[in-house]
Amino acid sequence: MSEQTRKKLLEVENLRKYFPVKGNKLLEKKYVQAVESVSLSIYKGETLGLVGESGCGKTTLGRTIIRLYEPTSGRIVYDGTPIYDSEKNISVKMLPYRRKMQIIFQDPSGSLDPRMTVGEIIGEALDIHGLTPSKKERTDRIRQLLEEVGLNTEHANRFPHEFSGGQQQRVGIARALAVDPEFIVCDEPISALDVSIQSQVVNMLEDLQANKGLTYLFIAHDVSVVRHISNRIGVMYLGCLVELAESHELCNHPIHPYTKTLLSAVPLPDPIKSRARQRILLEGDIPSPINPPSGCRFHTRCPYATDRCRQEMPVLKEYGPGHFGACHLLEQNG
Ligand SMILES: Nc1ncnc2c1ncn2[C@@H]1O[C@H](COP(=O)(O)OP(=O)(O)O)[C@@H](O)[C@H]1O
Ligand code: SF4
Ligand SMILES: [Mg+2]
Repeated sequence: MSEQTRKKLLEVENLRKYFPVKGNKLLEKKYVQAVESVSLSIYKGETLGLVGESGCGKTTLGRTIIRLYEPTSGRIVYDGTPIYDSEKNISVKMLPYRRKMQIIFQDPSGSLDPRMTVGEIIGEALDIHGLTPSKKERTDRIRQLLEEVGLNTEHANRFPHEFSGGQQQRVGIARALAVDPEFIVCDEPISALDVSIQSQVVNMLEDLQANKGLTYLFIAHDVSVVRHISNRIGVMYLGCLVELAESHELCNHPIHPYTKTLLSAVPLPDPIKSRARQRILLEGDIPSPINPPSGCRFHTRCPYATDRCRQEMPVLKEYGPGHFGACHLLEQNG
């Protein structure tokens, strides 16, 4: 897809999500600054991978984009329509958009109601949107969805605990597909599954995307999971999007110091090259998002940090075609 022919399905500008911290009311109110001023677009039909260490805000960003979490500020445009804009006080009713935007959760067992049968779980999604007026249509649709995700129609009468993790995730996928969505946030959909079945689920998600023209935001903590299935990859650190580029470009020519460290930990297919490459080790732990470092949030661990980095937060800018980075060092070099 060339830049000109690609249509944006989602546009996110300066999106912020802070969670209030419960504590002493007399003291200054504190917030978990989970997502800080993230701007990105997602093109129709693409898979945008989103990576970063645990706790960096991937889940919060995914859920805030589809407004499962109400944003703190920023702007979200879905298929040309602003669905949230804090400056213009726009906050549309989400029910019609819930059909278009769905999510597959990381923990399949925790996201399925143990008291409901698989048929009821999928049927509930249909009922909310009044999609199957007659009982027969409803039953047929549930059966069709089960088949689409590789389960048997008899599975409709069973409860989630009767299934393996992989089958439970297939139920979660069927529930997301029930409303015929356009966009799905896949939030680490395979990380809780046995390694042996991870690729089956990924392949199925890829087939469903091709057949239904779906657009994915595919979250993973490890680049190796998303590098082959993503058209582009975004990298997050402590709530901020620090780099975004075509998948191949990001993996082969990373420009942000944090992305370079993240990639240095990923094994290469060629063991000789892999051994020759130096793994970059970061000093210190990830700081708390309740009291994040000033300026560039990575400055406490970045080997290149300067005074400017400690004072001024770098903005995401384009340094090559479609290759964005947020780092003062890049400005000086480029
Ligand atoms: N509902 C919530 N309330 C308060 N803090 C939260 C909530 N959800 C996530 N957080 C915090 O926000 C930060 C980002 O979390 P999360 O988005 O789950 O990261 P990731 O998915 O990258 O592991 C973490 O510090 C986490 O503890
Ligand atoms: S802005 Fe400064 S601290 Fe942040 S990544 Fe770039 S060089 Fe490192
Ligand atoms: Mg997460």
